[in-house]
Amino acid sequence: MSASTSFPRHGDKQNSAFFEEYLERLLEERDTTGLTGMIDEIDAIMITVDPGHSIRYVGELALMTPYHYLVTLESENHWTHVLRVDMNSPDFLVREVKDPNIRGIFRSLNEVYPIGASKPNSRYMGEILRVDDLHSVASCQQKRGFRFFSQDQIRKLELPGNLAVSKPSPYTHNIVAYMERPHADMRVYALGISEIRPDIQEVYQAAKELQKRLAIADLILPIDHLATRVYCQNREVAILEWLSLSSYYYWGSYDIKDQNSSTNVTKSVHHRSEIRSPAKVFTANNTPYFVNHLEKLPSPTETFVRNYGPRLHHIALAVRDGETDGRENIEHVVKQIAAQGRDFLLDVIGSKEQGLKQIFSSASEHSSLIVEYVQRFGDFDGFFAKDNVAELTHAAGVEEELLELQAQARVD
Ligand SMILES: [Fe+2]
Repeated sequence: MSASTSFPRHGDKQNSAFFEEYLERLLEERDTTGLTGMIDEIDAIMITVDPGHSIRYVGELALMTPYHYLVTLESENHWTHVLRVDMNSPDFLVREVKDPNIRGIFRSLNEVYPIGASKPNSRYMGEILRVDDLHSVASCQQKRGFRFFSQDQIRKLELPGNLAVSKPSPYTHNIVAYMERPHADMRVYALGISEIRPDIQEVYQAAKELQKRLAIADLILPIDHLATRVYCQNREVAILEWLSLSSYYYWGSYDIKDQNSSTNVTKSVHHRSEIRSPAKVFTANNTPYFVNHLEKLPSPTETFVRNYGPRLHHIALAVRDGETDGRENIEHVVKQIAAQGRDFLLDVIGSKEQGLKQIFSSASEHSSLIVEYVQRFGDFDGFFAKDNVAELTHAAGVEEELLELQAQARVD
């Protein structure tokens, strides 16, 4: 047994014999070739938004997360804002497309989906993983069949020139990029001209002052997990592909029967704490949409993928365990943020006895991403209670039906 296959398995969802066989073989080969050791934590996540949206999105993130605005990298067709907590958690790269008429590969991923098309440039792009030796990792992955953008394509896409960037996954539509950085060095993104933009700085500072006034600034922690939704039939291959590209292991899968869906968790081999390198979660329906007229089962996950395409659904942030003003911290954080006009899809659900409490915000009008808050009690290290996931999945599905109706109304 290799290191990456030695972690205890969780969950009750059955996988196919294909999955179990290749999980073992892929991870063993990854360990023996040294790739597991060469690829480390998620160093940054990349999000693109439509023209005119990045200032307000940075303001939203500055209020709802612990992130700070650092600098803007300006290139010909994009502004890329770098947001950071510290060097122990991934950066956010928020990139705004300057011209609404610009077309490109990432936009085309949105355009064939009815709701995705309504915000053509808004999408989560993927993760940047830290590596010790960029050339070795990229050439090893190429030998294993992964495709990368050429240096010329990276320059035209206006992505940082010091990255090796994979082509979008056929299963998740996400990209994985590798960045060489010794652990002790600062993160550097080789892109455009850097400037602290006064308009962004102003919105950022106002949000941070509000965060302090609301007494939530010290309660929200960095990213806990990133949850991607994929088509039913791509659940196993999406997990195996991600494990091949990263140094993550398979934690396990839970069947959420109520919502005809499953939640599948992978975690970093190198870091126990999600704060250091967030867990990557994949959600997929149990049955494909075209059998639903026979089965009559709820299918919010498959419906989401059909409306937006496979993509990241939510970013979960941890909330510090404890109480503020006689309320659990998560209840306090949600009450304070909701009072500023931000909607949440339901009340905080879960309990101390179950080990955690969770909630989903409404989807951001800028990125289409939902923010999840999760507070774990004591030493609980699980990801969810099954009842919670069923309720969260249902609530997100209800909001989406409304968005679907709005999108149809625009077309009709
Ligand atoms: Fe989640």
